[in-house]
Amino acid sequence: MTARRPNCRRLKSAELTDPQQLRNYQPAPNSHQGRVVIVTGAGDGIGQAVALALARQGATVGLLGRTLRKLERSYDQIVKTGGPKPALLPFNLETAGAAEYDSLHDALDREFGRVDGLAHIAGILGALSPIDHYDVPTWCKVLHVNLTAAFLLTRTLLPLLRRSGDASIVFTSSGVARRGRAYWGAYSVSKFGTEGLMQVLAHESEGTRIRANSLNPGPVRTAMRLQAFPAEDRNRLVEPAAVTAPYLFLLGPEGRGINGMTFDCQPPPPAAQA
Ligand SMILES: NC(=O)c1ccc[n+]([C@@H]2O[C@H](COP(=O)([O-])OP(=O)(O)OC[C@H]3O[C@@H](n4cnc5c(N)ncnc54)[C@H](OP(=O)(O)O)[C@@H]3O)[C@@H](O)[C@H]2O)c1
Repeated sequence: MTARRPNCRRLKSAELTDPQQLRNYQPAPNSHQGRVVIVTGAGDGIGQAVALALARQGATVGLLGRTLRKLERSYDQIVKTGGPKPALLPFNLETAGAAEYDSLHDALDREFGRVDGLAHIAGILGALSPIDHYDVPTWCKVLHVNLTAAFLLTRTLLPLLRRSGDASIVFTSSGVARRGRAYWGAYSVSKFGTEGLMQVLAHESEGTRIRANSLNPGPVRTAMRLQAFPAEDRNRLVEPAAVTAPYLFLLGPEGRGINGMTFDCQPPPPAAQA
């Protein structure tokens, strides 16, 4: 038996000639109006910036995250700036069991009847440590929050995504998802898994109204980045708002037809460009 290689759609140069196009994407006003998009990690960092950007474009956003107080801050900002009333979805991806996932599905079904977009952005770093010293519970927690929970949430929401005329799932990857880097342990492995999950899902979704892609944000000024690089000059990092354009593109109508792709939200550093 011959193994079939995933045949996900690859962008052709004529379609999106340059990743810079994705990075500089400027949506038309209300480009996402009428879409219901669930964003994980919506209370902080990149997730919050993507949630606010989606709401500015008219999307109704499901704000999913661990800390209710942070989600409420995102909620208030959206309402204050005239965005559609979001949904508060406090949810702990580390501890949630089948009952919580079922309740989430049922609540979204009751409230919206469908989901048009799912942005997996929540994540944890765990510890930076060599493999022979890597703490086992930390390994399991990072793999669960970053990878298994994304699988569980996707699986839970697929029936609602199938009710959309144009559903987009976006996973958040990392520079250490494509080439393992010493000491990045479970985080790096979880992001390799994230890319794999995206590709499997994209292949299974070919010919359907669901698409799946992933984005590597690159270095961004957030709590996670500070945890990973406490001594670096934070002024050299971009703000989370600077990496939202590719999320908007893939989660909106203009990303239609793109499936199984992975993109960088920022250009590679000069050394890597050589
Ligand atoms: N920042 C970077 O330079 C960078 C680079 C490459 C990739 N990334 C990726 O980008 C994504 C966002 O990272 P970030 O830098 O914005 O990190 P962040 O500021 O630390 O935000 C992480 C978000 O994930 C949520 N979260 C963590 N554990 C959770 C749980 N158990 N249940 C529900 N939500 C949980 C957090 O909620 P609470 O605040 O309530 O805990 C927070 O909203 C991550 O997937 C990360 O791997 C970031």
